[in-house]
Order: sequence, then C-alpha cells, then structure tokens
Amino acid sequence: MQITERFIKLDTPRTSLIFRRYDELLETVYYGQRVPDAEDFDILSSHKHKYAHSCIDDIVAANMTFSCYGMGNDRKFSLSVKNHDGGYANNFLFVRAERAEKPDIDGLPSSDGAAETLVLVYEDRVYGLELRQYYSVFDDTDAVAVSTRLINRSEHAVVLRSLASCQLDVDGSGYEIFSYCGTWARERYRSRTVLHTGAFEQGTCRGSSSHAVNPFLLLRRPARMGGYLAFNLVYSGNHRECVESTAMHTTRILIGMGDSCLEIPLGGGERFHTPEAVMLFGKHRRDIAQQMHRFVNGHIVPRRYRGERPVAVNIWEACGFDFDREKVLAFADRAASVGAELLVVDDGWFGRRNDPTSSLGDWTDNEQKTGGLRSLAEAVRAKGLRFGIWIEPEMVSPDSDLYRAHPEYVLRNPARSPILMRDQLVLDLVRPEVSDYLFGCIERLMDLCSPEYIKWDFNRVITDAYHAPTLAGDAYSLQYCKALYALLDRVLTRWPHLLIESCAAGGGRYDLGILRYTPQVWTSDMTDPVERAHIQEGTLIAYPQSTMSAHVASEVCVKTGRRTRLCDRFALALEGVFGLEYDITQCRQEELDELRAQIAFYKNYRDVLLYGDYYPVESAEEGETAVRVVVSADKSRAVAEIFKLKQVFNREQNRYRLEGLNDEATYRVRIYGQEREFRASGRLLNSYGLELDAYFLKDRSGVYSNEINTLVLAIERC
Ligand code: DGJ
Repeated sequence: MQITERFIKLDTPRTSLIFRRYDELLETVYYGQRVPDAEDFDILSSHKHKYAHSCIDDIVAANMTFSCYGMGNDRKFSLSVKNHDGGYANNFLFVRAERAEKPDIDGLPSSDGAAETLVLVYEDRVYGLELRQYYSVFDDTDAVAVSTRLINRSEHAVVLRSLASCQLDVDGSGYEIFSYCGTWARERYRSRTVLHTGAFEQGTCRGSSSHAVNPFLLLRRPARMGGYLAFNLVYSGNHRECVESTAMHTTRILIGMGDSCLEIPLGGGERFHTPEAVMLFGKHRRDIAQQMHRFVNGHIVPRRYRGERPVAVNIWEACGFDFDREKVLAFADRAASVGAELLVVDDGWFGRRNDPTSSLGDWTDNEQKTGGLRSLAEAVRAKGLRFGIWIEPEMVSPDSDLYRAHPEYVLRNPARSPILMRDQLVLDLVRPEVSDYLFGCIERLMDLCSPEYIKWDFNRVITDAYHAPTLAGDAYSLQYCKALYALLDRVLTRWPHLLIESCAAGGGRYDLGILRYTPQVWTSDMTDPVERAHIQEGTLIAYPQSTMSAHVASEVCVKTGRRTRLCDRFALALEGVFGLEYDITQCRQEELDELRAQIAFYKNYRDVLLYGDYYPVESAEEGETAVRVVVSADKSRAVAEIFKLKQVFNREQNRYRLEGLNDEATYRVRIYGQEREFRASGRLLNSYGLELDAYFLKDRSGVYSNEINTLVLAIERC
C-alpha cells in the first residue's frame, strides 16, 4: 500500500487499485493489472478534470469513489440519508486515507486473513456524518474486500435509506454483464446483457440470496481495455447490484444489501456497517474463477473444513418421506459396500411428518419410523459410515405442536394472515426466544444421535416481513440474516466439528455469507446431468468446487424424466463434493461395482477435484461442448472433463484443448473407464489438444446418448 499526498495505491498479487485526490474529492483512476509503485501516476489523471469547470462537473463525469444525492451527482448513488432537517442532500468530502485494522462488521460475517487494510475517511460537515470505506487485500488472491461504515457524529437522529458496500466507477461503456439467474431446480444459469447507456439492476427481496439471482456479477470490459471485473457480497439476505453507464463513457457499479423500503434510524453516536463486498479484476474469465475460489477457500470457509469432505449417500430422491429403519440400514449397507463415507437421513424422520404438510418445528424423533435415532445412528456407524441428518429449523408447519403452542413465533403482519408456501410458515428468528427454542432443539438432536453432518434446509421465501416500523422491508432481511448467522455461530461454537451443508430448496441460498458457516451447499434439486452442466458452470465461476455438492442420481431423472447413463451422471457429480442420491438398494451387482470404482476414483483425485485450480476452457453456454479442467497447485495431477451436449454429425473438429498444464512437462492421460492411455506434453495438451471423439461411449446397439456424452481424463505428470 502506498499513500502519498495525491495518490493512494493498493496492490494485490497481480492487480493495482489507484485513487487520486483532487482537493476534497477522491477519484478512482486505475483498476487493472498490477503496476509498479514508481510509475508517474500523473498520467492517470482523468481527462474529465481538464474540462471540469466546477465541482459539479467532477461529480457528474469523474470516477468517484463514493456518491450521494442532491449535490450535483446525477447518477445512481451509494448513500441516501434523510437528514435531521428532513432533507436528503448530502456532500461527503474526502478527509484522509490511512492504514487500518480490518473492521469487524456488526453481527455479520466477513473474510479473514487480510494482509492490509486501507480506510478512506469522508465527512459531511454540515450534518456531522462520517463515512469510512474499508478496502482489504490478501497475499494469495486478487480479490479485494470492501465495506462501508456510516457514523452519525451529530446529536441528531437521521434515517439511513441506502448504503452500498462497494462503489466502483470505471472508464468506458459497453460492458458485457453476466449475471447468474434462475429459479428452483434451475439456479445460476448465465444471463448476458450489453450495456451502453442506462442502468442494469438485479437483486432480490425474497429474504435469501435466492434462486432467482445470485449476488455474483461478472463484467467483461470493452474490447479496447480487455479483462473482467467481478463482484460478490458476503451476505445471505436481500441484495442489489447495479451497473450504470453514461453518455460520458463512464460506468458505475454498486454492490450491496437490498434497500427496498429501507429505513434504519441512526441516533447521535450510532453507526451502521454494510455487509462486506468483494471485487476482483482478472485478465481472463479463468482468473476470475481461480481468484474467487482462492478467496473463498482461503478467507471465507473456515480453515478446519479444508480437509476431506465425506462421500455422502442421501436417501431423499429415492425415498422421499417413505422410509423406515430397515430401509435406512439397507442404504447404509450398500453405501458402505461401495465406499461411501456418510449416510444422510433426509426430511421425514421427526414428529408425524409423512408428507410436507406437518411437523416442521417439532424436532422429535419419530421412533416408529427410525426405531430410535440413537440406535439408528449407532447402527450406521457400526457399518463404518458417519451419520447425517436433515433439519429445516427456520420453518414451522401450521399443523405442529410448536405452532399450536406458540403461534406468536411466526413471522407475520398482525393485520393479515401470513402467506403459506409449501404448507409452511417462517419463524421470526429475530425474536431471541425463537432462536433459543431452535438451539434447544438442535442440542437435543445432537445429544440424541451426535450427527457428524447436518443438512440445513430452507424451503420457502420470506414474506410478511413488514410488521414493525423499524424492521420493515430490507431492514428485516438484515436482522433476519444476523439472527441466522448468530444461531449458526452458536451451534458451531458448541460443536465445532459438525459439518453443515446449506440447502434452500436446492441452491436458493448459495452465497459467501452462508459459506462462512457451512462449507458446502446443495447446489440444486436438479440432478439431471444435462441441466447440471449449466448449473454447475454458473456456480463454479463464482464458488469453488469444494463448496458445491453434486450427487449421482437415478437413471431416469425424477424431475425431467430424462434417461442418462451412469458414466455421464458420474462425470457431472465429479465436479463437486461427490455423493449418491438414488436407490442403491435396488442396484444390480454390475452397477454396484461401477459405483465402487467411481468412488475410488473420486477419492484418489479428491484433493485435485475439490481444491485444484479450475480452468473453464469451453463454455456450455457458447457451444455444444463444455470442457473444464482442474489442476493441482504443482501441476503434477489434473482431471479434465468433456461434456458433449449435442451430437453434431460430420463435423471435422473433434479436438479438445485443455488448459493449466505445465508446458514443459510430459503427462500420461488416461480416459476413465477405458483402456486407452496417451502420453503428451503439457504444451500439446494446452495448445492443440487431443482428438477424442472416438472415445465417447456408445451403447450396446452402437449409438451415442442423445442427451449428453462425457469423458473424464485423469492426467498425471510422468
Ligand atoms: C429440499 C431439498 O433441496 C431436498 O434435497 C430435500 O432435502 C427436500 N427439501 C426435503 O424436504
């Protein structure tokens, strides 16, 4: 970090971010590849200033670090406050930049292990408000963590109406914006927009980061500049991402929590700190993925989870609510015999829950079904497996003892009936008695069967969150998130070795906030490999393989009805935390042998598969083939996956190029499940590739699968 009279420079291993001071304004003059300290940064002064006749011209056209309403800024703004006199016009002037400790964010998770933190301090002297922007950098990733704190240093109360975590103003317009959108069972499909002038906005008010739009945002800079910018938020609640480009060819990016109907009173001396955002510059798309992955693995997911993640067998897709002790033990037998490490009893083990209409909230053992959870867990462990169990603590069924005893625990507007979804209501977790009740339930469950793993589900959106004036709108979402994090923290402080997998009807809460507590997420309820090829590609650009749970499911997908082959389902599941999710008690010996071999392969390459550098070589969104490679840090081992999503007849090019291998090394390339082995230099694999079409498997009648054909390559340095 370099702080001089006029310039402030912050470096990551491969990028630099430079601010320039003009009197009491601060401008972002550079964000891109790392440049040396010795440069004459005067060349970076913005041309806009040469034509500026007043402070207003600066604010309108320059790349500001921060913006508000009412003093000349005519673009989207990062702060809105209702001042004590009822006005909204604020003017924050830059005061100083200094090194700082990375701040704790009040009640919210944030990244750890930063190398240095810069704070930029601004003041609105008229209204006695201070603003502090924190920028933290790390030794091992180019991600920059940014958060903002507003302090009311006056004696008067003000009302905060919005505050972005991060504002980045950059040159140029015509940015290509990639967002990752979807719905239940179709999460994080890539969506593309090119923005010349005007605004692009995405976000959600569903009470979780949502299936609809992930907070991760990727921007491709205009061709003459090259490179990518990416953003994300360490937060699980309502969020908003905005990109605005003007005819002056400047673009502003604002990232932060949702601000719909937001009114947060800030009394004299009080402060508000935003969730942490992350921003990143990378030359290539793969840099974005790799640097984000490093950030998440190194600074978000707690270090104690860095080790192996167990291969799970989950009984949900096979059984639904229809299982008993015998069935669970039959699954456990088979799971152990194929080399799985964890058996998960999903929804339906508690209360009188035989369908989705009852018992959420009554976390008591249904002994008729389980034969007693304590002894069931022991029996599962006796087979050499860990024991896992499903809960959905944040919800309650109207048909439950909990609801009958405590209807007041439900989140509702007293003036209306609460909205029912999936036959369930949301508990008002912000109430301490609700959180205590849930902790007590989890404590009893832990005492009863000591699960090593919990699947923590959340199956509906939050509505009715407008009941109390100070917690209206997105302020409720913030308080809810804080309460959720506090409960997770309490559980994990008490049982630090518990592995929690987050789930929200699949991947409806896949974000950096939840990953601070739960190192893996059930990616999607969609288990069809054709759909998963897209969902997992969209997920992996932002989140590392180690966070992405991926299971081999049944031959005929329970959602799409599509029939696919085991080898193709295996190839997709190999991209994340591997597991099985179908009725393995019905498998023939041949299939069990195949599963055993697949799991052995996964275990052999687990470290590379979960933590290797990820190279998205060809995108499923751009052609008929996806090619993705993961490579160990020392480049001695790699796994490449080729997914052919369409059969194209009589096409010459059947060569598949890889990436990430050492050009100078020689590798042995083995096609999984086949005898064929190649020897090739890293240079050949990286630049030319392999002719592989002949190796896609045909079935007994000599035809390829119509749906998806995959190849898995195991690559070892000779
Ligand atoms: C939704 C999850 O995504 C499923 O895997 C399963 O756990 C069900 N909920 C159970 O209700």
